Amino acid sequence: MRRPLGPFSVSAIGFGAMRLTGPGVFGPPTDRDEALAVLREAVDSGVDHIDTAQFYGPDVVNELIREALHPYPENLILVSKVGASRDRDGRVLSAQEPAQLRQGIEDNLRTLGIDALPVVNLRLIGGSEPDAFFDEQLAAMLSARDDGLIKAIGLSNITSAHLLHALRVTDIACVQNEFHMGNSVSQPVLDECTRRGIAFVPFASLGFGVPGPDAVLGRAAVVDEAVRLGVTPAQVALAWALAVSPTVLLIPGTSSRRHLRENLAASSVHLDDETVRRLSPL
Ligand SMILES: NC(=O)c1ccc[n+]([C@@H]2O[C@H](COP(=O)([O-])OP(=O)(O)OC[C@H]3O[C@@H](n4cnc5c(N)ncnc54)[C@H](OP(=O)(O)O)[C@@H]3O)[C@@H](O)[C@H]2O)c1
Repeated sequence: MRRPLGPFSVSAIGFGAMRLTGPGVFGPPTDRDEALAVLREAVDSGVDHIDTAQFYGPDVVNELIREALHPYPENLILVSKVGASRDRDGRVLSAQEPAQLRQGIEDNLRTLGIDALPVVNLRLIGGSEPDAFFDEQLAAMLSARDDGLIKAIGLSNITSAHLLHALRVTDIACVQNEFHMGNSVSQPVLDECTRRGIAFVPFASLGFGVPGPDAVLGRAAVVDEAVRLGVTPAQVALAWALAVSPTVLLIPGTSSRRHLRENLAASSVHLDDETVRRLSPL
């Protein structure tokens, strides 16, 4: 199943690389060999869309991607994001200033070992309305694209107002917001993306993998449907997300080949319309 990602076309189920770090998305993974194996198997299995960030680790995830996959297959669409950084103690810092966005793009290119990135998301921190500062941030992204450092611009953690505002000055390849059965705050953004054919890339489509009856993978309705179909709760959650809009692209995160295989196999799980409605938040 292939779907558009801005000017590119990718498999509907890609890979979110954030989990290839130590605890708290900081430092190296406990099983480095497995992290490298996950990346290689993902690409060997047809994944051509990997989501990353230089601030995952920091540097750790991009360097693993480089070690596992460089020189990159021509069709591999690496998508990164800018707008944050980590200090040496692991604190997450804002890096939203236009100059920091540019620096973030350059740090991604250096750690991934490439001259240009297919897509970079401007990842906002809070704020529901576009303002003059957002225009300055967009200008920084546009100048990086004009300078050939990135091929397309995405947005992350945004409202519909941000999307509509940004579309007045540039094409937007994708929007990456949190969205899953337990959090549909971004439904209006998803609807706007669907209307306009813009890729909507939900993060945490597995509800962050949190266990328990209130979490996505532990909900009675998800577990019951999984039993009925003979699949796993994760596969139901992913099949549901794929079914809510033809513009959805998934980037489930995992540090294990077992979960990677399970997640990729969700592309052949079909949920009928009634089931999709029943699983959807009210
Ligand atoms: N733009 C943003 O602000 C933003 C924020 C967060 C994340 N992201 C991106 O979105 C991607 C996905 O988000 P996420 O990793 O936080 O959440 P997620 O994909 O909802 O969940 C990942 C968690 O679920 C577990 N998991 C994976 N497959 C599973 C399966 N088949 N069965 C049971 N558990 C499973 C993983 O553990 P194991 O490692 O044990 O498999 C991991 O702890 C990230 O990798 C990152 O690239 C973006």
